Amino acid sequence: MADQIFIFDTTLRDGEQVPGCKLNQTQKLLVAKELDDLGVDVIEAGFPISSPGDFQSVEAIAKQTNNAIVCGLSRSVKGDIDSAAAALKFAKRPRIHTGIGTSDTHIKYKFNSTRDKILERAVEAVKYAKQFVEDVEFYAEDAGRTDNDYLAEVCSAVIKAGATVLNIPDTTGYCLPSEYGEKIKYLADNVIGIENAILSTHCHNDLGLATANSIAGIQFGARQIECTINGIGERAGNTALEEVAMIIKHRLGKQYYSNIDSKKLNAMSKLVSESMCMPVQPNKAIVGDNAFAHSSGIHQDGVIKRRENYEIIDPKEVGVDQSSIILTARSGRAALAYRSKQVGYDLYKDQLDVAYSEFISLADLKKEVTNDDLNAMLAGLFAATV
Ligand code: KIV
Ligand code: ZN
Repeated sequence: MADQIFIFDTTLRDGEQVPGCKLNQTQKLLVAKELDDLGVDVIEAGFPISSPGDFQSVEAIAKQTNNAIVCGLSRSVKGDIDSAAAALKFAKRPRIHTGIGTSDTHIKYKFNSTRDKILERAVEAVKYAKQFVEDVEFYAEDAGRTDNDYLAEVCSAVIKAGATVLNIPDTTGYCLPSEYGEKIKYLADNVIGIENAILSTHCHNDLGLATANSIAGIQFGARQIECTINGIGERAGNTALEEVAMIIKHRLGKQYYSNIDSKKLNAMSKLVSESMCMPVQPNKAIVGDNAFAHSSGIHQDGVIKRRENYEIIDPKEVGVDQSSIILTARSGRAALAYRSKQVGYDLYKDQLDVAYSEFISLADLKKEVTNDDLNAMLAGLFAATV
């Protein structure tokens, strides 16, 4: 029996922290609605104490959301928790996400405090949040660089105080997958009361390892992944939702499943990219423009013969109509014949030879030969044959 991996989306909180990505309330409501339809289990709607605008957005998202848990962030500060609780008042399924830095670096240089005092603040915050909602998630900020024994002690104490979910953020994107996996395993094996809580991954991408670390996390016992659409987020970003959803579906389907409706991923990516004015890199896994585009002759020939030769995912599965064959100076005859047929020219072998020599001279002059270029070239050579 496969285990469910809960998908916690933080596009509207960690993602929206990115400079220039701020959304207005109408945009946030639309993104939240689409996230709910996509099948995410938790929507982290914002950080209510941070501004009146964010408070109002969290409140409005809490009112409109039918399926997902709606979550608001707070520090381990009473005022933050009061604000999160008030913003979530109308949520059908509210969750307060509270926490504090637990690495020695944070304890010393952020809080000028001690491990004991931080543990006390963590417990107090969870107990306080628990007065407002049943579902309280605790984050141990910079858990990636936190000593495992101390982290286990904090986690045991906050579970006793009522935490339902333990978020283990690799806040600085520091861990290697093996280290992050071991950390999760250490917690799964050593935290008292862990059978009553869910371990959650929250990985940043500073070394390009966010997705790999999140997957290592679930393989060693975590059951929730925190992520964003297109992997947006502080600095190099967070784990990309579309990547973990497709890894779970395609590579780990025997052990795990998520509720993500993968056919909606491409549209979701476009909505977030356009509303946040944050372009998606063309070679981005799953949702980049080139994720299902083939441009070298060898690959094009292979994919035309059978898509699976060079694609591990059917583009339709993520809401992309079809793979594309891009015509460049690296393309071969198979690609030219395929694209010529698409624009109305079913070429015989001799015609293809003629067209290919004309095409390759044109392609050397241009980055890409478009349908217009192809039509003009073929019209000059032949009349349409299909
Ligand atoms: O990266 C991080 O540690 C966070 C926490 C506030 C959850 O975003
Ligand atoms: Zn984060």
